Amino acid sequence: MMKGVILHGGNGTRLRPLTYTDVKQLLPLAGRPVSEYALMNLIEIGIKEINIVIGDVGKSEVQEYYGDGSNWGVSITYTYQGKPLGIAHAIGMTRGFVGNDRFVVVLGDNYFQSGLKSLVDKFSSKSFDTLIALTKVNNPSQFGIAEVSNGKIVSLVEKPKEPRSDLAIAGAYFLSPAIFPIIDGLKPSWRDELEITEAFQIMLDREMSIGYSVITGWWKDTGTVDEFLDCNRMVLDKLDSNVPTDYEYSSVNISGRVHIGKNVEFKGTTKVLGPCYIGDRSVIEDSFIGPFTSIGVNCHLKTLEIEDSIVMDGSSLEISDGVRICGSLIGSNVSVMPTKSKSRTIRLIVGRDSKLEL
Ligand code: TTP
Repeated sequence: MMKGVILHGGNGTRLRPLTYTDVKQLLPLAGRPVSEYALMNLIEIGIKEINIVIGDVGKSEVQEYYGDGSNWGVSITYTYQGKPLGIAHAIGMTRGFVGNDRFVVVLGDNYFQSGLKSLVDKFSSKSFDTLIALTKVNNPSQFGIAEVSNGKIVSLVEKPKEPRSDLAIAGAYFLSPAIFPIIDGLKPSWRDELEITEAFQIMLDREMSIGYSVITGWWKDTGTVDEFLDCNRMVLDKLDSNVPTDYEYSSVNISGRVHIGKNVEFKGTTKVLGPCYIGDRSVIEDSFIGPFTSIGVNCHLKTLEIEDSIVMDGSSLEISDGVRICGSLIGSNVSVMPTKSKSRTIRLIVGRDSKLEL
């Protein structure tokens, strides 16, 4: 029986300041952590035993959220990686869990729109030692790139200056325990990590069989704010509306595909233009919620105009001078209030690495 591993550690430096306190794979896309989509990808291909590799940031939150997996009908256990010493290091930590079985590793911040079915079918039908997911990208020098010839991978290069193809390695690897001795032999790279690309290159050098499948459908690595917002747009674009057509909301005008959580309260004159997601118990007052916006649970928005943004749980935002919030990622329990001062001053209590464009 094939097993599954979700990588949930890492530094998350590119998503600071959110990742000082929150683990990036729990950041929400339409009300679910990004890693829950990875979990669902594994469940869809019939995997029942899953191990989540956690690091230091947010490790108890991850375990609290996923528990023993019974809410999803699977068994979930955890491996503590601690310091993020690389993807290959994280995989190396799971050998006790993996035992003698074949397994699939997914990066918990990668989003595969069309799932992993075609990959697992190919991996199961052939005797590959490893099968990796490839996807066409526009900016190959920012990814691990595979060069393929006659249906075979001939080389793998991490972030090549002169890319030989536009096929990037996406974050789903189908593996066998043969990977572990190779990981044991790796040396830390210039960035002090054990690199998975290097492990695959060694397999190629030893003429072990590495298969690949070019994935169809949308794939996103959500490691930066812009990529995260891109993915938010993508997920909201596929969202089913749960607003009954005959539902009467006083004073709220809803159009487009919108998901409205339980006990959401609309006050004053509000317009919601989908696709949007609004979490349970949020209160929206005299506001405009524009396309591609996700609002978490227990938020309070007042006289706010917002679009193409994510607001996480428990945040209160009130802006009264007609400024529209766009392309923003707002963490949980954030408070943005109008100034009480009569003069045109603003007051900022903002942590390290915050970014404001005023
Ligand atoms: P990356 O996004 O490549 O690295 P990172 O999380 O350290 O982020 P940044 O570059 O912004 O500092 O990691 C890919 C995935 O692998 C991600 O889901 C985190 C996970 N990971 C681990 O679980 N352990 C590790 O040691 C590393 C480096 C990554």
